[in-house]
Order: sequence, then C-alpha cells, then structure tokens
Amino acid sequence: MVRELVLVGIGAGDPDWVTVEAARAIEELDVLFVVIKERGLDELVEARRVVVDRYRSRPLRTVELHDPPRPWRSTADYDAAVTWWRAQRLQQWSEAIAGALAEGRTGGFLVWGDPSLNEIAADARMPLRVRVVPGVSSVHALTARHRIPVNRQGRGVRIVPARLLASRSLADGLPDDVDDVVVMLDAKQTFATIDPSGIDIYWGAYLGTPDELLVSGPLAEVREEILRVRAEAVARKGWVFDTYLLRRT
Ligand SMILES: C[S@@+](CC[C@H](N)C(=O)[O-])C[C@H]1O[C@@H](n2cnc3c(N)ncnc32)[C@H](O)[C@@H]1O
Repeated sequence: MVRELVLVGIGAGDPDWVTVEAARAIEELDVLFVVIKERGLDELVEARRVVVDRYRSRPLRTVELHDPPRPWRSTADYDAAVTWWRAQRLQQWSEAIAGALAEGRTGGFLVWGDPSLNEIAADARMPLRVRVVPGVSSVHALTARHRIPVNRQGRGVRIVPARLLASRSLADGLPDDVDDVVVMLDAKQTFATIDPSGIDIYWGAYLGTPDELLVSGPLAEVREEILRVRAEAVARKGWVFDTYLLRRT
C-alpha cells in the first residue's frame, strides 16, 4: 500500500485563507511533519498551530524535522552550497518520513502560502504518492490588499528572489522586457538601490496578520518611508516577511 504525502498550502498569513480542500486535508492527515528551522521563526510555527487547532477536530501526531545548518551567503560558490544543503535536507527528511509513515498512511506538511512558490520539492525516489493542495500565496495576498492586478492586460509578470534582482545590476531600473516584477525574500531592501524613475512600488509586510503593513506609490517618493516603516517593524518584532511589486508606470 502506497504512502501518501500531502503538501498543504495554508495561505500566507490569515487562517481564513485556508481553503476547504486544505481544511479537509488537515482533518484527514495521519501524521503532520513540522519543519523546525535553524533560526526558528516562532511566530510561523505558532501560525501553523493556530491553523491545526482551527481545522482539526481530533489529536494529530506530529513529527519534527530539523533543518541542517544553512550555508553562509558569503560562501564562495553559494549556489553549489545551497544545492548540497538541499540534497542533505531531502535525504534526512526522506529517511524521517519513511520511518514515521506506515504503509497506506497519509503524512503532510503545512506549507506557507502556496507550495509552488519557493517551497518544498518532493523526492521522486521515495515510494510515495505526492498530492499538492494549492494555497493563497503572498503574491496574491499582496495584490489583493493593494487592489491591483498582478499583471496588466496582455502583459507578463516576473517573480524573482531579491538576490536575482540585485545581481542583475538594476541600478538602471527594470530590464527592458519587463514591466512588472514581484520581489520576494528581500533582506537587503533592494528596491532602495535601483533607479526609481518611472517605477511604482506596492509593498506589503506581514500580510494577512494583525501586524500587516502596506505602502504604495512612486518609488522615488515612498522608498524612504518603506525603509523607515520596515526598520521600525524589525526593531519591534525581530523579523519581517515582506513582498513587493515594482511596476513600470
Ligand atoms: C520562502 S518564500 C515562501 C512563499 C510562500 N510559499 C508563498 O506562497 O507566499 C518566503 C517569502 O515570501 C514572502 N511572504 C510570505 N508570506 C508573507 C506575508 N504574510 N507578507 C509578506 N510577504 C510574505 C516574503 O517575501 C518571504 O521572504
């Protein structure tokens, strides 16, 4: 009998963003796998607990998976180091999952936002059937809060980690062939380093939570405000999750 692993997208903040399919999947799980990060964002672990409490009517067996230490960003070949880190993590988790999940049983991960965006990949070598339950991503939470479409009619949009944006020398602004860029994982406020002319920004932090912050406007006019609001939030809470859309006007 095949084991099943479900990647359940739980939305990027508000427990109301858990879909009916996700709620049903949580109710039907035999084992929940919880990833404990190296520098744990306790509030995110807590957010997942709130979701389980709300959508699970009976006790749920939980197995913790620990993240191996991440390579330093300053590592000479960072991409190779991350590839090795991912392989090591996959190996450890595969063994833990195989050990904890009996045949015919269903295990699951609660994945922040939507599982397809910068999240977990299943190991094809495992004798597992994998199911993915889509969720409300931070991209869509951002555009909903700002009441804007993610792309404009007939145009494309690019979603990038900030590292890529920074490495492409955006000092001159957006690449010629792109009008809309969604930026995630920006620890260095890359938006403040680019030529702001002709660019609007739609910025959001802690979307879908009581701490939610939103700022939008011409990049040249609001970038200082975003830097200030963001720095105050980090000082207050110790961490921040923020995402933004850069839009050529
Ligand atoms: C590892 S990615 C995971 C994305 C997630 N799978 C999703 O669908 O949104 C983490 C990044 O998502 C963005 N993010 C996730 N949740 C967010 C939230 N509630 N508010 C703002 N940004 C968020 C941030 O850019 C953060 O650095």
